[in-house]
Amino acid sequence: MNFEELMLRALTNAESFKYTAKPNPVVGAILWNGNEIISEGYHEVYGSHHAEINAISDAKKFLGKKFDNFSELTLICTLEPCSHVGKTGSCAKKIVSTGIKKVVIGSIDPNPKVAGKGIEILKKNGVDVVVGIHEDIVKNQNKYFFFKHTNNRPYIILKIASSLDGKSHMQGDERTIITSKASREDVQILRASCDAILTGGNTLINDNPRMNARVSFPTNQPKKILLTSKEYDKELNFFKENNVQIFKNQDLTKIINSFKDQEICSILVEAGPKLANSFLNLDLIDEIIAYTSNAKLGNKAISWFKENNAIENYGFKLESSYKIETDLKEIFKKNG
Ligand SMILES: NC(=O)c1ccc[n+]([C@@H]2O[C@H](COP(=O)([O-])OP(=O)(O)OC[C@H]3O[C@@H](n4cnc5c(N)ncnc54)[C@H](OP(=O)(O)O)[C@@H]3O)[C@@H](O)[C@H]2O)c1
Repeated sequence: MNFEELMLRALTNAESFKYTAKPNPVVGAILWNGNEIISEGYHEVYGSHHAEINAISDAKKFLGKKFDNFSELTLICTLEPCSHVGKTGSCAKKIVSTGIKKVVIGSIDPNPKVAGKGIEILKKNGVDVVVGIHEDIVKNQNKYFFFKHTNNRPYIILKIASSLDGKSHMQGDERTIITSKASREDVQILRASCDAILTGGNTLINDNPRMNARVSFPTNQPKKILLTSKEYDKELNFFKENNVQIFKNQDLTKIINSFKDQEICSILVEAGPKLANSFLNLDLIDEIIAYTSNAKLGNKAISWFKENNAIENYGFKLESSYKIETDLKEIFKKNG
């Protein structure tokens, strides 16, 4: 296997941990002796050991059997080894202490706490470093993490469920179910992939949503963010998990900027038309995921947008679409 193939293997296997590593990036590491893989390590769970440390620990079982000294091995890792001492120790220092002489890296870590400092530690200690193998895939695999550290704010996805005639809900305070069970299950996976879910006070009071990720695989539950100055019942479903942050002010830019220093790389906005349009008007939405049913709600229902094709008018273009039973799921991204 060459370095490209080993990097692809590390990237592919790392993907299994995307729901348990978040809000950290997924990272894979492989120790290679030139002929065979000695060990592999992955960042499996947020707060636990990093990929490089897991690969090094596993390799120790083969010391004196498959290799005699770590200096014979090359470490392939998808993301730059960390320089700082966070929840776990500095990976770059650990690599140096083992005696590994060559490290092949997919991409530099965009986190300003690392951003080249891990590579610097390796190079200063005589380690041969190669950077940029399948860099695009690493960036795409951890796109929320890269976005956050490049833009100083989380990536924001607006999810809307719409009737065929562009409506969000019926007037009044009853919850309106618009899309199929299969679409609503798809939303659970979408929730699981995000670091936080954000909603407003009217949705909270009218729908009494739980807004957690009800999926059949292990996931770090998204944090919940509530925007309202209204009085509400603290016994509502939303508060059943103890991970809610509440904002009473209406300055969305300020609210979003306040996440700069929090470990939140992605936010899923699940709100009604008022809050959704406020986000869109401030150009704060990076992606829209629309689930559209094949039934109409009629003139008495509340519209998502004032005009037809409003998603395009807000500067989004359709990237992909899928059929989910009789619903249509469409993903829109910012145009340019
Ligand atoms: N079809 C769907 O996908 C979907 C999804 C979610 C909800 N809904 C429906 O939407 C209905 C509620 O929609 P909605 O838009 O009236 O309520 P909303 O989603 O709750 O949004 C309005 C809330 O956001 C707060 N907010 C904070 N900053 C704001 C800002 N800059 N601009 C606008 N609001 C701001 C408001 O605060 P204050 O409390 O201080 O006024 C208010 O509580 C619900 O009945 C629900 O059924 C539909």
